[in-house]
Amino acid sequence: MTQTPVPPLRDAPALIERCFPVAKLSAESRKERISGAAQRLTGVGKWWGRKPLVLVRASILGALLPATDDPQKDIEVFERLLGIDDVSVHERSGLSTTKFTTSSSDERRKKAGLAEDYDGPTDWASWMMINDHLGTNAYSLTELIAQLGHLRFGGTPSVGDVFCGGGSIPFEAARLGCETISSDLNPVAGLLTWSNQALLCASPSDRKRIETAQQWMYEEADRQITEWGIEHDAQGRRADAYLWCTEVLDPETGYIVPLSTTWVISPKDRVVAELVPDHKGRRYDIHIISNATDEQMDRAKQGTVVDQHLVPPGTPDHPEPQRTLLSRLRARHRHGQGLRPWMVSEFGPAPDDFFQERLYCIRWVEEVQTGRKVKTIKRYEGVTEADLAREKTCEKLLLERLTDWQERGYLPKAALPVNDRQRNNLLAVRGWTHWHHLFTPRQLLVIGLLAELSEVSEAPRELLALTGKHTDRGTKLCLWSRVTDTPTNTFTTHVLAPVYNWSARGLKLFRSLSLPTSSLPAIPVNVELRDARTANAPCSLWITDPPYADAIPYEYLSEFFLAWYGQRLTKYFPEWYADPKQALALQGKDAAFHGAMIEVYSNLARLMSEGGLQIVMFTHRDVRLWADLGMIMWASGLRVSAAWTVATENTEGHRAGSGAVQSTVLLVLRKRGAVDMLFEDEILSLMEQEVAEQRASMQTLADAGLQWSDADLQLAAYAAALRVITSHDIDGIDPRQELLKVRPKGEVSPVHRLLEQAAQVASRELLPSGLNAAVWHVLSAHERFYLKALDAERRHRTHRGLYQELSKGLTANHWQELVYEKRGQEPRVFTATEFGGRGMQSGPLAGTLLRHVLMAVKLTTQTGEPAKGVDWLFKEVDQFDMQQTHALHLLEYLGRQTEPHWTADAANARVLRGALMNVGV
Ligand SMILES: C[S@@+](CC[C@H](N)C(=O)[O-])C[C@H]1O[C@@H](n2cnc3c(N)ncnc32)[C@H](O)[C@@H]1O
Repeated sequence: MTQTPVPPLRDAPALIERCFPVAKLSAESRKERISGAAQRLTGVGKWWGRKPLVLVRASILGALLPATDDPQKDIEVFERLLGIDDVSVHERSGLSTTKFTTSSSDERRKKAGLAEDYDGPTDWASWMMINDHLGTNAYSLTELIAQLGHLRFGGTPSVGDVFCGGGSIPFEAARLGCETISSDLNPVAGLLTWSNQALLCASPSDRKRIETAQQWMYEEADRQITEWGIEHDAQGRRADAYLWCTEVLDPETGYIVPLSTTWVISPKDRVVAELVPDHKGRRYDIHIISNATDEQMDRAKQGTVVDQHLVPPGTPDHPEPQRTLLSRLRARHRHGQGLRPWMVSEFGPAPDDFFQERLYCIRWVEEVQTGRKVKTIKRYEGVTEADLAREKTCEKLLLERLTDWQERGYLPKAALPVNDRQRNNLLAVRGWTHWHHLFTPRQLLVIGLLAELSEVSEAPRELLALTGKHTDRGTKLCLWSRVTDTPTNTFTTHVLAPVYNWSARGLKLFRSLSLPTSSLPAIPVNVELRDARTANAPCSLWITDPPYADAIPYEYLSEFFLAWYGQRLTKYFPEWYADPKQALALQGKDAAFHGAMIEVYSNLARLMSEGGLQIVMFTHRDVRLWADLGMIMWASGLRVSAAWTVATENTEGHRAGSGAVQSTVLLVLRKRGAVDMLFEDEILSLMEQEVAEQRASMQTLADAGLQWSDADLQLAAYAAALRVITSHDIDGIDPRQELLKVRPKGEVSPVHRLLEQAAQVASRELLPSGLNAAVWHVLSAHERFYLKALDAERRHRTHRGLYQELSKGLTANHWQELVYEKRGQEPRVFTATEFGGRGMQSGPLAGTLLRHVLMAVKLTTQTGEPAKGVDWLFKEVDQFDMQQTHALHLLEYLGRQTEPHWTADAANARVLRGALMNVGV
């Protein structure tokens, strides 16, 4: 019997297990993220937490390429393949050599466009260099992937993702020529993953069919809307935007007050609305003014809602009415019963409802021939009786079709989900009970019409995702953007948040929402809807991005879209369901969630092919979760072989309170196999050794030109510790039991303790410049965090993710309490004076020498008397005389801060230091 030969690279370490160009990948990932609509997949539809394609590509390549004994060459090849080395960036930028050499790296990268659009080197010399190093014979990325797959796995590599979400991982894997296995529990995720490929990797004839179908749908809608006469006025002008506001009765004046936080409509075109009291009608007329004067612009900035208070404009009887908290008025409504729940048959408020809805401005668009050119003129005008009659026509037309369209799945008919926080909120703050209550009749009519037309078009399945785009941009939750002069989208945050003042699109603006198409080559992707725990196909590389620790409520997004896709989804994908299956979704961060994660990853460990790897990406701000994730993998029979952190996310739309998410950690994992059992102290000394080796190896790579920040070094040290832990059994520690245990607050698991010890070992070497080493070595994690942050601030090295990364490395889990974050400003740590008395008794710095020193500085600044600061230190710090030298070093360090907000405190730190030096010497 002949034996199948072992693929030559099967057991070779992968490049991603040794190095990863995190700085460049972070820059490319962030560039991809902020490029908005230019990103390939965002145009297909909304999903939270999509991973950057460049990061997915780097993970796949990094897992297939070997780590050879020439790491410098490994990196050179890797970066060339990704198009992120200097040679490729130069080529991609199209800049002349002189321009390129004189421009900054940011400028070069900007010019180079997105790495996700790069299809690998095209020149002979690059491929010669690559093949020479790898022993391959490839002239494109897909050829190389196929050859590396054979060398490592004996065939085409397969990439699996059981949490495929918006579909980045399968999309990019298929583009690279890998077989894919992709699934998600959520049908909206399934539709997006399927649509990515159907639209962007369409054959030329399919592409033509989809584009023709979209065009036809909009033209037919245009014809129908023109025939209905719902967007044209008597002069034949066409409206493209409708501005609405809510109104409430002010009990003091007896006037109905239109609500908005500002009455500026277009700063660019100087358009404002003015509220003019109509004494007889006990309401306000709304006048729309174009070419407003400076004074009118200023007046319009004063909204009728300020900090959630109703601020009515003066009336003849009440020139200065009182402000009232809107929630209080709402709660008093109907003798304290609150808002009336809307009935299913309703499309707007009843006359005595708390909130009324009012159309107050329409933007009219005219095409005017000037010479040979056609000029578009846009005019904002107040609302006339004829306009209101057209809204009534919309309602009438809608009612005529409602049942039929609901039956066919073009309009939602379902009630909002019961027992759901989101539903309770919509009910409490607006009285809405059904999905259609989130739309005006006009919005329902136009979106329903577009859905009906897409259904009878040549590409109904491919255009299904377009309904999602229409609905996201077509609710009463879409604000009017005063930057772009268009309605925004519904999901600018994770939750459905009703607004006081919204805007609706006319067809012309809906028409700008087309689905992108292209004919990129790729292997077909097949998407399944399934619970990740039930995956059953083996795979060479599992790359997953789990819904870690419930940062994102996917159910809110998907329930909304499923209300519209519903039966059309199951018609086109008969093997799918149209329910988010919320009960099965992985959520939370407690023992039940840990148990579910262990189930998923134990199953995936079983489904890894020989020599296979797993990469788990996770994006969360809470650093404690990182150790839990390591334990989950350990308990699932996997060992960590490397970890990297890449800055990927902006702070868009995360659940209130969970904080912004900025960087993604990549854990690289292998199967555990047979391991040794060690005692805790043995583990600790192995960890120290591994941490030292890790740092030495990173130093070698830094010498070869790879950039590492302190935070990278810290994280790598942490990863080294995880590597040791997860590659052994530890006497007396069962990771599964540890994870499933319900712990009293403050109790730390033995694994967390070990990891913290390892992190402390590593952090000793991160001495901030100008600080005495002896002081640094005795500081706590949070004292170190604070001083490191000051160091970065002084050297202007701060960026949004810095604090988070530093905290990870230093295990400063409560760092947020030390950081001052203000909208529109770079975050920074508090100064001594800003801390005031906070955090003395409890909090991450409570009881530390640094906290007392900061307090002493604050007292000196406040009173101008350094003796007060000296007094504080001697009275409040236990055995201060033993710590006086350390305090002097800390004051010297604080005295060197140069940023403007430190001027006073830094000067007083120097004064206090002088005073302290004269005491007890
Ligand atoms: C962080 S997202 C994945 C994002 C994806 N990598 C992307 O680039 O768009 C996590 C996904 O896990 C899915 N999910 C949650 N619980 C699940 C379960 N039990 N089985 C399968 N998928 C689940 C969610 O629907 C969500 O799409």
